[in-house]
Order: sequence, then structure tokens, then C-alpha cells
Amino acid sequence: MTEKSEFRRYLVDIDSISTHQLFTDCLVIGAGIAGLRAAIEAPADRGVLMVCKGTLENSNTFKAQGGIASVLDKTDTFESHIEDTLSTGCGISDQEIVESVVRQGPELIEQLLQWGTEFDLADNRIATTLEGGHSHPRVAHGHGDETGRIIAEALIRKVRQDPDIRILDNFYTIDLLTNDDDKCLGIIGFDQKRGFQIIWAAKTILATGGAGRLYRETTNPEGATGDGIAMAYRAGAVLQDLEFVQFHPTTLYIAGATRALITETLRGEGAVLVDNRGCRFMKDYHEAAELAPRDIVSRAILAQMRKTESTHVHLDVRHFERAYFAKRFPWINELLESFDIDITKDLIPVRPSAHYMIGGVKTDRSAATSIENLYACGEIASTGLHGANRLGSNSLLEGLVFGKIAGQAIAQSSKTSATHLKHPLIKNKIPHSDRTRLDADDVRNSLRALMWRNVGITRWDQPLAEAQEIIRFWQRYVMDKIFDSPEGWECQNMLTVSLLLAQSARNRRESRGVHFRRDFPETDNTHFRNHIEISRDNGAK
Ligand code: FUM
Repeated sequence: MTEKSEFRRYLVDIDSISTHQLFTDCLVIGAGIAGLRAAIEAPADRGVLMVCKGTLENSNTFKAQGGIASVLDKTDTFESHIEDTLSTGCGISDQEIVESVVRQGPELIEQLLQWGTEFDLADNRIATTLEGGHSHPRVAHGHGDETGRIIAEALIRKVRQDPDIRILDNFYTIDLLTNDDDKCLGIIGFDQKRGFQIIWAAKTILATGGAGRLYRETTNPEGATGDGIAMAYRAGAVLQDLEFVQFHPTTLYIAGATRALITETLRGEGAVLVDNRGCRFMKDYHEAAELAPRDIVSRAILAQMRKTESTHVHLDVRHFERAYFAKRFPWINELLESFDIDITKDLIPVRPSAHYMIGGVKTDRSAATSIENLYACGEIASTGLHGANRLGSNSLLEGLVFGKIAGQAIAQSSKTSATHLKHPLIKNKIPHSDRTRLDADDVRNSLRALMWRNVGITRWDQPLAEAQEIIRFWQRYVMDKIFDSPEGWECQNMLTVSLLLAQSARNRRESRGVHFRRDFPETDNTHFRNHIEISRDNGAK
């Protein structure tokens, strides 16, 4: 139990920095699919301000390959997509949310098409393919394996055309500002051009994405450091299901090269997994073989790596026709060519890595968090759609649907102006620290290695407890330092989220979906068919 007073409420000392101030009725933090869609839906008669850590073009959405799942084919049904989502979620998905997201899919995808998203077509209809856990080919894709990019580009065009939406890029959000009643009043951030800045906002939407960079091995871009989760926690929001981290089975593994996703749709279209002796092994682990749910494929790969004393396994695509492969998977094709991998002759070295944060900031049906005036959507939100395991390609769909819902919720709320908000904030005196020799990069790298080792695909209590102890030790000297650049704040956020994740993983003393406990290998529906919530009043510091 942590007392409120012990908290570093903000990462910077608000009293001591002179700030520029901006006012907006609606603030959107983050520019992935959910943030962009929210900004488009937010009320035109109120000013919308969108801030993002990098540029609009370097969100995690941009990197999505496989696609967006929806019922787009006459032979498919909503019931089937709902059933696949629920069964992958292992008993803790919210049925009402699942139904609502699945049923809104076709209309919102049609809208994307009208807004210029160049989905791949077959017979003049959106082409669809298969991924694990789907009982029907319902994954729409664009430019082959560049689905995220073509969706994001269409949304960015729309946002840029809208004179009511202002964009501040290269803006790092440090903290949510709250008052004594824990109402959200906006943010404090750091603009690379203008320095520290306060943005007072009547309504704030968090769409900052996930936290894959907590792990040494990940498909996520550099920005995915869990900032939004950490700042929501400091502000007092309820978080849930942080233990559910989805590991993608197939990440390109070439020592020294940046890890890159090798899309599951490749397996959907016939790629097979082989070990270092060239033997197929997935049938030994699951009847659906390469198309078993991702958690099963990831654990099977780890087991096979151990069995064959290897650092990786391989994807075999040698039976693909070269020209077809280059057209269907152009991004991967170029990547492989850059490493002199000839897909008709060579195997592709792969292994699992952290891919998607299923848990996050708890939201209700209208994307509202437990903090007044604060909404969340996209990967940062825990809506209840995914349960304990996410069905592939359901996340772009969720971002689209809940981005729209968050924008709509603000449009429907009573109109309040931000200009009256400027009043005393909760302040926290941060003790002065003289730690001049602290290397935040080194802490981050050590943390990512620790998380991979102790809080990874297979977990048990002793390494989880050890991870917490080590993180707490690092926190002793990292958290009391006042950094003046994003690298330091990111490091502090990563420590906070890692500690909470390890705590949630310890709390769930069963195995369910992506959370596998070697010391509790069974699913325990009597005690754990529920969500694990964590907040600053019951969490770890
Ligand atoms: O394999 C993939 O293309 C990943 C899709 C997803 O995470 O939804």
C-alpha cells in the first residue's frame, strides 16, 4: 500500500519552470490510428489540439503489417468474428464491447476507403487473408504488408486538411495535470522548439500507444516506452490487466540488426516454421500448427529453441513464387534482400518478441477513464475487447472504433472552455538530487534485459519478485532526479510501468491467454476469471 503523499505526482517541478501556456477544448495526445481517428471525430466547433512525441509518421500504427480484421465477405458473419475474439480472449473479454467493435468494423473500414486508404482489392472488393485464431479470412491489408502506413496516411491527410485541428509534433508529454479532486486539467510537456509548455484542456484523450520497449526483444518502435500508462498512474487512473503482454512469434532475428516484425499473414498464406534441423514442429504443439493462437506459437518456438539448443527457429517460404512474394510482402521482401536473404533458397531466422500491450488504462464504453475529463483509446486503453489474448489484427479495428467513440464522447459532453481551468495545480516539492553520474541509457538497457529475462513469455514468482527488487533499487536513484530531456523521463516511466507489470504478473497466480506462469500452469476460473486492477492507491510505487 502506498500513501498518496509518497508519490512523485509530476516528473518535473512545476513551480520552478517558467512555461508557455496554451488553451484547448480538446487535447489529443498521440498520433496513431486511435489518436488520429479521435481528432477527426472531435467536435469541429471546439478547438482540437493534437500533440505527438515524434512526427505523425513514426507511430506504431505506421509499422503494422498484417492488417485490420473485419467482416468484409458475404460468407463471413459477425457471430463468427465475435466468437473468435471471445474464445481467443480466454474468458475475460467484455462481450458487449466485443459485439460493438466487431459490428462497427465494416462501416468504419468503408469510411477509410472513402478517405483514400488504398486497401488491396480482389474482384473489386477489399481482399482479405487469414491469421491465427480467425475461422475465416477477414484480415484486410494494403500495399501488401504496409497496412498500417496506408491507413495512417489517409487519416493524416484528413487531419491536415481540417483547419480546426492544430498539430504540435516533437512534443513530449511529461505529465497529466490534475487538481485536488483528481480532475484532469491538461498536460505539461516539452516542445523541442519552445521548451516546457502547459496545455490547459477541457478534455484530454490519451492515445499514446503501448510499451513494447520495456523489453529487449520487441517489434515496437523507439517511442513505445509506456509514457501514457505511467503518467495516467501518477495522475491516479485505474489500470488493468498489465500482465497481459502479447509476444509476437516471428520477429526477424539477425544478431546486431534491429528486430523487425515478420507478419503472421505470411503463415496465413502458407509459410511454415522449422527448427535448426529443418524439421517442422508446430504440429507437435497444437493441431492448428502455424496458425495456432500467438501465445501458443511463441511458447512452442521457445520450447523448440531449448530442445534444439538454438537461439532461433526459421520461417520457410521457399515454396513461394518470388514475384508473388515481392508484390504481396514488399516491405519484408526489401528487408530480407537488404540482408542478402534469398527467399527462394534461404530460411528466415525468427524468434518471438514483445509486440502488444493488452492491458492499460481502464476505460468504459465511452472511452472514459476513471479520471474526470480524461479519455483513452488505442493500445494504451484496456477496453475489455482482447481479454487475456488479442486476436491478430483486432487492434487496428479497436483503435478505429474507440478513437471514434472518444471523439464522439467529447462532442456529446457539455461544452466547457479551457480558459477557466488555469488555477492551482497539485504541487509536489521534489527534493534536490545531485546525481550527475547517472546514465539513463544504461538503466534503460539493463531494465529491458531484466524484463525479457524475468517478466517474459514464461513467468514464475521468484524471478518476478527479483525483477521488482532490482527495479525498486534502480528507482531509488533514478526517480528522485529531475531530468530535463525526454530520455530521462522515458527511463522513469519505463521503471514505473515495469514495476507495475511485474506486480500484476505476480498477482495473477494462474495461466491464462498470453500470461503463462510455470508455477501455476492451469487456468483458475474460480479465483481469476476477472481483471487485475492496479492504481497508485494499491500499486507499487
Ligand atoms: O503479424 C502481424 O502482422 C501482426 C498483426 C497484429 O499484431 O495485429
